[in-house]
Amino acid sequence: MDPWRLNPAQPEPGTVLCWLDEIADPGAKGFDYRVGEAMFAGFVVRQGQRAIGYVDSCPHAGWPLSASPDRYLTREGDRIFCSGHGAQFAIDDGACLFGPCAGMALTPWLVEVDADGVVRTAG
Ligand code: FES
Repeated sequence: MDPWRLNPAQPEPGTVLCWLDEIADPGAKGFDYRVGEAMFAGFVVRQGQRAIGYVDSCPHAGWPLSASPDRYLTREGDRIFCSGHGAQFAIDDGACLFGPCAGMALTPWLVEVDADGVVRTAG
């Protein structure tokens, strides 16, 4: 398997995800992929002109973070939030800041914003 790939359903580098402007600022957007039995879920957080991606799996119990579409941030929009048991994570590096996941972090999903404002997966 390619070293950048977390599982067979993970989209390859360069895959177009969306326009950056399709994501609220601050806000986030989830993406799901399926290949055969394999599934990959990730989400992208927008901060101004930056996009930061993570695998949609909480390090506490492995659950998806969002209970409703694209709701990955706290009400204030300054942290990533897991609806499972209330864990909170830093947007910049995915480190757990609060909740039952001390010392753990979200798994990065590399994404980038190109000069046209398109969010793509990166390798
Ligand atoms: S599954 Fe995320 S805090 Fe428990």
